[in-house]
This record gives sequence, C-alpha cells and structure tokens, in this order.
Amino acid sequence: MSERVEIFEVGPRDGLQNEKRLIPTAEKIALVDCLSRAGFRRIECASFVSPKWVPQMADSGQVLGGITRVDGVSYAALTPNMRGFEAAMAARADEVAIFGSASEGFSKANINATIDESLDRFRPVASAALEQGVPVRGYVSCVVECPYDGPVAPSAVARVVAELRDMGCYEISLGDTIGRATPDGIVAMLRAVLHELPADKLAGHYHDTGGLACDNIEASLEFGLRVFDAAVGGLGGCPYAPGAAGNVATEAVAARLEALGYVHGLDMTVVAEAAEMARAMRIG
Ligand code: HMG
Ligand code: MG
Repeated sequence: MSERVEIFEVGPRDGLQNEKRLIPTAEKIALVDCLSRAGFRRIECASFVSPKWVPQMADSGQVLGGITRVDGVSYAALTPNMRGFEAAMAARADEVAIFGSASEGFSKANINATIDESLDRFRPVASAALEQGVPVRGYVSCVVECPYDGPVAPSAVARVVAELRDMGCYEISLGDTIGRATPDGIVAMLRAVLHELPADKLAGHYHDTGGLACDNIEASLEFGLRVFDAAVGGLGGCPYAPGAAGNVATEAVAARLEALGYVHGLDMTVVAEAAEMARAMRIG
C-alpha cells in the first residue's frame, strides 16, 4: 500500500493574510466550507493577532463562528500571545499555533520581539492550551534565509525547534518564509533539526518564490517528513517578509506527491473548486 502524506491547508490564513483588499467574511467562510469538503484533516483559517498589524485577519472570530464544522477536521488558529489565545478559545479554535523565528531580524519585524522574548510570550500560551487539552503547533520561520539577516544557520533553527518542543508542541512546522531555499539548504537544516525532533513531529512549510518548493518537499520526504503546509491556488505571503511570494499551491503539492507514488487522500475536484474561489478572492 502507498504511504500517506498529509497536506495541511493554510490558505484561509497564510494565503489570505497578505491580501490588500479586505475580503468579506462571508467569502472566507465559503472558502473554508469548500475546503472542509476536500478531505483535509487540518485547515488553518484564523489568526488572532493585532488587527493593526494584519487587518485582513481581524474577522477571525467571525470566520470560526460562521463555518460549518465537519467532524474530524481540526480548524486551527495562530495565537501570538495570551490575548490571542483567549480570543481563539472564545471562537472555539480546535488547535492553536505559536509562531517563532530562527532569525532575529524577522522576529522583530513580524512580532516585535527578540527570539527569546517571543519564547517567553509563547510559554504561557502553550501551557494554557495544554491545560485545556488544546493541541499546540509550533512554527519556526526563516529556516534557511531571512529577508533581513540573510542566511540562517541550521543550529539556530534547531535551537528554536528544541524550545518549542519543550513547550509541548505536538508538531513543528519549518517555514521557508521567503521561498528562497534550495533542496541543499533544506537538507542541511533538516540534518540539524532532526537531532532535536523526529521527522514524524515535523512539517515543511515552504513558500514558492523561487519555484523550488515542490523540490524542497521531495528532499524533505527523503528525510521522513510526511506533513506539508500548502495553500489552495498558491495564495499568500507574509506582510512582514518583503518580496515573499505565495505558499506552495496545494494542487502542485498533491500532483508532486501523486507522481512520487504517495497518497494524499484529497478530492482534487473540490480542491480545484477551492483554488478557483481563492483566486477570485485575490482578484475581487
Ligand atoms: P506589539 O505592538 O509589540 O504588542 O505587537 P503590544 O502588546 O504592545 O500590542 C500592540 C497593540 O496590539 C495593542 O493595541 C494591543 O492591544 C494589540 P493598542 O493598544 O495599540 O490599540 N494586541 C492585540 N490585538 C488583538 N489580538 C492580539 C493582540 N495582541 C496585542 N492577540 C504582536 C505584538 C505579536 C501583537 C504583533 O506584532 C502582531 O500582531 N504580529 C503579528 C504579525 C503576523 O501576524 N504575521 C503573519 C503571521 S506569521 C507568518 O505568516 C509566518 C508563517 O506562515 C510561517 C512562515 O511562513 O515562515 C506562520
Ligand atoms: Mg507562511
């Protein structure tokens, strides 16, 4: 039997957060509802960050309140601090994510904190979540390159991974935030990170600026990673990562996985429908 690889859909969050036009809440809800029919087990659809920093995510509570939840699907939200965590719980997020960086420049630009300050902010979020039985995912951004600091040492990534692991994150997603990594860079980073955490607790989160995201996924598969984040229609980017293009497209990842003989379990007709909706939201 072919081996299964999970695509973690991040389009409604990472895909949309960078859009300049304020997308009506109803359109976001319709996108999530469509994705819920596609067979994803996890969909990131909310971000409880400051609305001054990311205006597009200001209606995250309404999005989570308006979607039709499907049994077996976990609806995830980013929570940078306790205030975000409390809002996520009020909106009934099924899981939360704390998001750090391996580079100081991006940490400061994205969450206005040094790496160590950010870790201090995440600790109470992780313990509150675990006390309430809410799974916590961790993100590490700039795992190969930073838009402010340049190349990032694999040991710097491994250090943040270890900190997030010790906070109880059930999985840590490794972000090539600006999409400039090559397979060689990913492999060097993974070799360091795998000393801290096994492959079955890691995910790849690769943006596709340089067009190598699927190659980076292929390199990661060889190291045992079996979860990859992607966004329908290849939407997205981070407002605090200048020049970064979208997340790798869910459709492209699915096609590459199929070509390599893996099973992703998605209904590609529904995924195509969601990708069309996502593209229309960008143009709209
Ligand atoms: P700060 O200015 O240092 O914090 O921001 P603060 O505590 O001084 O708060 C500033 C204002 O935000 C205050 O409001 C707070 O009340 C409010 P004011 O008094 O000015 O009216 N505030 C909040 N409002 C709503 N929800 C909250 C919250 N917290 C404070 N949770 C902060 C620090 C972290 C809040 C800010 O820097 C921020 O929101 N940053 C988020 C940036 C972001 O969302 N970036 C994109 C997501 S990360 C990403 O895309 C990368 C990823 O995809 C992986 C990858 O690709 O690598 C995950
Ligand atoms: Mg991202």
